[in-house]
Amino acid sequence: MIPQDFIQSLLSRVDIVDVIDRRVPLKKAGANYQACCPFHNEKSPSFTVSPSKQFYHCFGCGAHGTAIGFLMEYAGLSYVDAIKALADQTGMTVPESATPNPVRAQQTASLVEVMQRAEQYYRQQLKLSATAIEYLKKRGLTGEIAARFGLGYAPNGWQNLGAVFEHYADPALHEAGLVVVNDAGQRYDRFRDRVMFPIINQKGDVIGFGGRVLDGGGEPKYLNSPETPLFQKGSELYGLFQARRAIRDAGRVIVVEGYMDVVALAQHGVEYAVATLGTATTATHLQKLLRHTDEVVFCFDGDSAGQRAAWRALEHSLPIVTDSSRLGFLFLPESHDPDSYVREFGRAGFETMLSKSVVPLSAYLFKQIAQQHDLATDEGKSAFLKALQPLIAQVTAPSLALMLRKRAAELVQIDMAELAALWHLKPVRALSAGPARIKRPAPASISRHLLRMLLFNPSLAQYLTEDLLTQTDTDTQTLREVLVILHQHPHLDTAMLIEQGQHQLHAADIEQCGAEIMDWEADLDVTPEFNLVLEQLRMTGKQTRMQVLAQKSLRDLTDEEKKELQQLR
Ligand code: UTP
Ligand code: MN
Repeated sequence: MIPQDFIQSLLSRVDIVDVIDRRVPLKKAGANYQACCPFHNEKSPSFTVSPSKQFYHCFGCGAHGTAIGFLMEYAGLSYVDAIKALADQTGMTVPESATPNPVRAQQTASLVEVMQRAEQYYRQQLKLSATAIEYLKKRGLTGEIAARFGLGYAPNGWQNLGAVFEHYADPALHEAGLVVVNDAGQRYDRFRDRVMFPIINQKGDVIGFGGRVLDGGGEPKYLNSPETPLFQKGSELYGLFQARRAIRDAGRVIVVEGYMDVVALAQHGVEYAVATLGTATTATHLQKLLRHTDEVVFCFDGDSAGQRAAWRALEHSLPIVTDSSRLGFLFLPESHDPDSYVREFGRAGFETMLSKSVVPLSAYLFKQIAQQHDLATDEGKSAFLKALQPLIAQVTAPSLALMLRKRAAELVQIDMAELAALWHLKPVRALSAGPARIKRPAPASISRHLLRMLLFNPSLAQYLTEDLLTQTDTDTQTLREVLVILHQHPHLDTAMLIEQGQHQLHAADIEQCGAEIMDWEADLDVTPEFNLVLEQLRMTGKQTRMQVLAQKSLRDLTDEEKKELQQLR
């Protein structure tokens, strides 16, 4: 393992503009540099490099990172090799490993290799299994599509992987989720007699598998890799790696529920579909998708489970949706899923439905809530408004929020002034009171705002303590993650923070924030704004505490609490 200090000083010595410009000629664009993105197909440049903050971000495909990350993606180098290459260029020597726990570091590094070897093995086994091939054929798949998705077959048997890996007891096999260790300490293959769907991350590494039983096989129908250091279900989407280009070409992405749905859609030429992995659609999923395209269509089965899943997707979407994104819901006729639908009606049938039957997020929201209330009575209208308020309050996209409020008011026949008074709305204004030179202070939660400023100027972290963060939303979780890093390593700069951020659970959000500060001017002083927001946080903290205490009856308060309450007041 290469010491962090070394990476830090390496990153402060190389100039990312230089590193990239040698390979992809850059043009100056304002404070930044731009080019057509080398990682996806595009005609106008959205690949942007910040010379002051030393990272790049593609507003088209979301490619993002430091000079190290760029070399990894561009030249296909490993992390260590990318660092070596950069060190060579600057005449620095990479120190020999001074890691506290070398064994463990090696293991984690090799998880990707372990997964890759397993995938190769499963693929090769598919060729040898007539039953598995027969199964896929029966589901309408060609060899070409099977190859495109790297489909494989895990044969029956308890320790088949023993023939693939030298040491079956290697903890990496267990850590990668390929081998299960039972209470008695016995080890056996997790996936047996299943068709294998490799799950691939944005870099093209296999990070997990879904395994489906063949006809007449046992339970569960789909077995998925457990969460591992490589694989977090809540942020990965099946098929995204394969769909990248098609999503850009089509200008939209469809989110479906099943592995088989993605593969079958692709088989019929609808290549812009991805699937969540047996979980609800999360905010992270959506953020990831919105980096590829503005239009996201959630496609659900027409049954009640589909309705529930759609509602959950809506709830997670409200805080994420932007004024330029179009989110919609498509409900299939009962008893169909995307796989069966496209097999029956083909690409044309599926796309006709897409063009005719997608319900926009706003319409779906009102329809669902209106259904539960009788808008012919005053009581029904009041309850309707009450149910809507917390939902609309989550929408941070200013224009959309305004439209939703207008529609809410119309539906109960009140005017906007009345609604504003009822909901204590502030008049529309720039949401950040920050210095005018922050060009895109886009509406954001306090945590998000803090995150951006921390990313811009990491040394501010010393003034922010974790106890001030009482919310539990994604932005706050991400902020907490970043704070922990910065408190541990107080001297990180932006590039180094971005480098570290890539290994965090909320990597996608950290990246997104990086993109958001891209056009802040290099000499911008965010300190006054930061202090202002801190003060705001302290006030909110106090108010919340006061409310908690004030809600208790006087008798239940301890003496200390009484004192505290007095002080707060
Ligand atoms: P479905 O049960 O709707 O299956 O699961 P499907 O996609 O139509 O599969 P086929 O057509 O029968 O092959 C949808 C998704 O839910 C997750 C998987 O991700 C699956 O693709 N799932 C389902 C599981 O994780 N485990 C299960 O046992 C079932
Ligand atoms: Mn199905």
